[in-house]
Amino acid sequence: MTEKAATMKFDGKTVIVTGGAKGIGRVYSAAFAERGASVCVADIDEGALRQTSEEIGKLGGRCHCVRTDVSDPDSVEKMVRSCDSSLGPPDVLVNNAAYFSTIARRPWNEVPADEWRKALDVNVVGMWLCCRAAFPYMKQRGRGKIVNISSGTALGSPSPGFIHYVTSKGAVISFTRALAREVGEYNVNVNTVTPGLVATEATVANYPKDTFLRSRERRCLKRDLVPADLVGAVLFLASEESDFVTGQIINVDGGSIMV
Ligand SMILES: NC(=O)c1ccc[n+]([C@@H]2O[C@H](COP(=O)([O-])OP(=O)(O)OC[C@H]3O[C@@H](n4cnc5c(N)ncnc54)[C@H](O)[C@@H]3O)[C@@H](O)[C@H]2O)c1
Repeated sequence: MTEKAATMKFDGKTVIVTGGAKGIGRVYSAAFAERGASVCVADIDEGALRQTSEEIGKLGGRCHCVRTDVSDPDSVEKMVRSCDSSLGPPDVLVNNAAYFSTIARRPWNEVPADEWRKALDVNVVGMWLCCRAAFPYMKQRGRGKIVNISSGTALGSPSPGFIHYVTSKGAVISFTRALAREVGEYNVNVNTVTPGLVATEATVANYPKDTFLRSRERRCLKRDLVPADLVGAVLFLASEESDFVTGQIINVDGGSIMV
């Protein structure tokens, strides 16, 4: 734990992390648990949920893992209700789940229509469903933090080969701004983080090595971006330190794109 991040404490707070059982989401789940939050990990992958539950238990953290399909309204409503009954009402929602690492790259006009629908269903509609389900608890208590995970690919020059994903991540930014306007009067903050290419188990296994080299060259800070690099921005936007920040983007990519 870094000294700076340690100042952001989440004792007594309940945090939902969607897609929190694998990849970068698992790192967010553990980071919140280490800092005292009760974490509701909502993910579609049951095996990964079991593993994450064990890992957070070993850290001495409190977590509740719920198999959830964020694109299914009933599943999302059930997840938020079970979070409330097991851990308490959500103070923070991190919308991190995405149809991402299993996407096959294809030219724009060869993406099957059902893949397009899945990208929008999981990455955009799923985010809205989670916000819709968590918002009443936040509204009732007059505070809440929503952190939506977009991607740097929606900001600069988009990577070719997954136009449906890029489109969905662009929508996350517009969604964040529109929602910030609608829920600000209830003291609910909505912001987005745009990571650059992150070296995760999945991207390292699936992306050619020169993709990482090219990303490094474009950065001011000449190294790979790792999941831990994103934790500070997400914690900040989830904490009281960002109480007057809403509708904003924090771009975390080592200075590749300057917004
Ligand atoms: N890895 C990168 O380079 C990178 C870059 C920019 C943005 N991002 C974004 O960061 C977030 C995490 O990325 P990652 O690399 O860990 O992705 P990942 O594909 O490894 O993990 C996504 C997580 O979401 C879960 N998930 C997928 N569909 C779901 C559904 N319908 N309901 C619930 N959970 C579901 C998966 O099981 C998994 O745990 C995503 O929003 C992604 O778009 C990643």
